Amino acid sequence: MTLLDGKKTSEQIKLEIAREVEKIKSLGGKIPHLAAVLVGEDGASQTYVNSKVKDCEQVGFGSTLVRMDASTSEEDLLNHVQEINDNDEIDGIIVQLPLPDHISVQKVTERIRPEKDVDGFHPVNVGRMVKGLPAYIAATPYGIMQLIERYQIETSGKHCVIIGRSDIVGTPMNILMSRKANPGNCTVTLCHSRTPDIKAHTLQADIIIAALGMPGFLTEDMVKPGAVVVDVGITRVPDATKKRGYALKGDVEFEGVAPKCSYITPVPGGVGPMTRAALLWNTLQAAKRSFYQPAPVDS
Ligand code: GUN
Repeated sequence: MTLLDGKKTSEQIKLEIAREVEKIKSLGGKIPHLAAVLVGEDGASQTYVNSKVKDCEQVGFGSTLVRMDASTSEEDLLNHVQEINDNDEIDGIIVQLPLPDHISVQKVTERIRPEKDVDGFHPVNVGRMVKGLPAYIAATPYGIMQLIERYQIETSGKHCVIIGRSDIVGTPMNILMSRKANPGNCTVTLCHSRTPDIKAHTLQADIIIAALGMPGFLTEDMVKPGAVVVDVGITRVPDATKKRGYALKGDVEFEGVAPKCSYITPVPGGVGPMTRAALLWNTLQAAKRSFYQPAPVDS
């Protein structure tokens, strides 16, 4: 069994990004700049946003953290997003989710200019991804694809079973793993809360991507020997032995499953750090305007 070490791999990606930033600097170019908008006081969201700002510092990006009160109106938030859209200093925008109930996630997502949508949530980017066009791919699916690619895991012709159909992870992973590319070319089964017998599917899987948000859901008896297992879960479970009062638990019952696998991601230290690195990579592309420049016209 080999651990898919997201921490080590993400450090390597961050090093590559930092080198590019140095190159841009030496050529007098514009330093990439990410703006993160946080509405309210949700503990997990604050942690995520603070880490995103720290990551920016680590690779030499600029960053702006906009904190807004939980009672902020939808209109105020939309206006703020518009201001950032119009600010040429800022290359990438993320609005941390979840948002308070009185604010429409769809309206906010669609207000972000697709060229600055480094979260890859705007329908234009989702559509471009589906069609195989250059697009910002949401950070978690992009991070998982990077991990698979960098560990040179064979995916062509394999059976990939995804558990969870969220539009942030399960649905894009379905598209990315089945598309004609490397990694890709899998036959994909997408399981969800209405799938009667998930175990019957996972037992057939060469690759399992668990993204349902239920700690310890995938157990040893559900996995074929030699399978590759990617654990996307990061649920906070109360734990009095930890200083912060909780432990992070994945969707995979690691102790039992790991010995059966060819490769497996740990939690923490697997998909989480890859997600963070993928957001930085998207921000670098935004600064380089690489996806949205018109193709050169043949003369
Ligand atoms: N909340 C949980 N994951 C994410 C993410 O990838 N992006 C944003 N904007 N919010 C999130």
